[in-house]
Amino acid sequence: MRTQVGIIGAGPAGLLLSHLLANKGIDSVVLEKRSRLYVEDRVRAGVLEQGTVDLLVAAGLGERLLNEGIRHHGFEIRAGSESHRIDFDAPTEGRGITIAGQQAVVKDLISSRKQRGGKIFFKVEDVKILGADGDSPKIRFNREGQGEELICDWIAGCDGFYGVSRTTIPNSKRRSFSREYPFAWLGVLVDAPPSSDELIYSSHMNGFALHSMRSTKVTRNYIQCDPNDSISDWSEDRIWQELHDRLEIIPGWKLMEGKILETGITPMRSYVCETMNFGRLFLAGDAAHIVPPTGAKGMNLAIADIAYLSAAIVAWYELSSRELMNRYTASCLRHIWRGEHFSWYMTKLLHKFPDASSFDERLRKSELDYLFRSSAASKSLAENYVGFSYD
Ligand code: FAD
Ligand code: PHB
Repeated sequence: MRTQVGIIGAGPAGLLLSHLLANKGIDSVVLEKRSRLYVEDRVRAGVLEQGTVDLLVAAGLGERLLNEGIRHHGFEIRAGSESHRIDFDAPTEGRGITIAGQQAVVKDLISSRKQRGGKIFFKVEDVKILGADGDSPKIRFNREGQGEELICDWIAGCDGFYGVSRTTIPNSKRRSFSREYPFAWLGVLVDAPPSSDELIYSSHMNGFALHSMRSTKVTRNYIQCDPNDSISDWSEDRIWQELHDRLEIIPGWKLMEGKILETGITPMRSYVCETMNFGRLFLAGDAAHIVPPTGAKGMNLAIADIAYLSAAIVAWYELSSRELMNRYTASCLRHIWRGEHFSWYMTKLLHKFPDASSFDERLRKSELDYLFRSSAASKSLAENYVGFSYD
């Protein structure tokens, strides 16, 4: 088989790249390890930055997003017995966030690609990249028990943190920057209407909790937990007890309960791979960088990478120019490191670190106090949360 761009991974990054290239008449094939059902049902991100929404709408993917997505103009931080609202509107000149499940974005991308004859092969195995540093790279894989080879002009490694693309780049050509956190998030999807119009991030002495949502009928909550916990450590009673304790710190505010639809534990990690390009292979999204979810940046950074990568590939085909490709890593990294810093900052600010000294805890308390009292600090947080435009 031959294609112009071979794409590994059918997450938001890989699917959006395939979609944007198709809009410009550039052919691609997407290779995905999991089934279509698995990819469409995976509960993950919920917060889309302004730039992400603008890009998806401009790419013709706005229908469901604009109809069903919920636009938010701020969020709340709770700490001690205090609550503070971070307003987006005034400090960001009307930029905001939209609440929409990553699943909905992925479903729309898959159905749009399929409708337009796009090639997405699910359940492929043993994906290997060959000759990335030559002029005619190939991807070898197994599909339905048969070995296949896809010859490409370019390869996009959009296969997430555990994919094969990043490690195809020789060790001597890449550098990793990382940090592990001594806790994880237990995510709880609940069949109950949100108890608040906006997201609530709560810093409690038992640990962090987040009240988020997917729609007017479904809520998504997160609880800071031990990284070694398994789901069996968390009975429904324990989940509700911790959510009530950590979120109900404002007199009169009550968290609505409902049927628990899904639970899962996510480790917390910061990671960046420099470089994101080796010959004709480009990395994008979680394949190249990971953030702890506290800043709601992961999917947004993946989409930002694709904004740069799609423009670079289009410039190659339309203008025979490799300039944007040569600049790809540097353009992405500027954006990525801002997201990394903000995600680390939000994580440090709101979580209870088991190894924190009393000095560290006093600093954290002071930072929260400053944020709650300084409009400059709130404005800076709002600006980072809604995200920056790509330049
Ligand atoms: P992925 O979505 O991981 O897609 C990679 C794909 O590659 C997968 O489908 C995988 O099956 C496939 N693959 C892997 N290996 C191979 C292989 N060898 N061959 C073929 N295919 C392969 N982000 C936000 O922006 N906002 C949020 O609110 C937010 N909340 C989150 C909450 C949770 C609980 C979690 C876990 C994540 C959250 N994120 C959030 C992060 C966001 O979900 C990810 O950053 C996003 O999915 C990255 O997209 P991607 O396409 O790069 O990678
Ligand atoms: C979510 O709704 O899944 C969500 C919201 C905000 C975050 C992380 C996840 O910071």
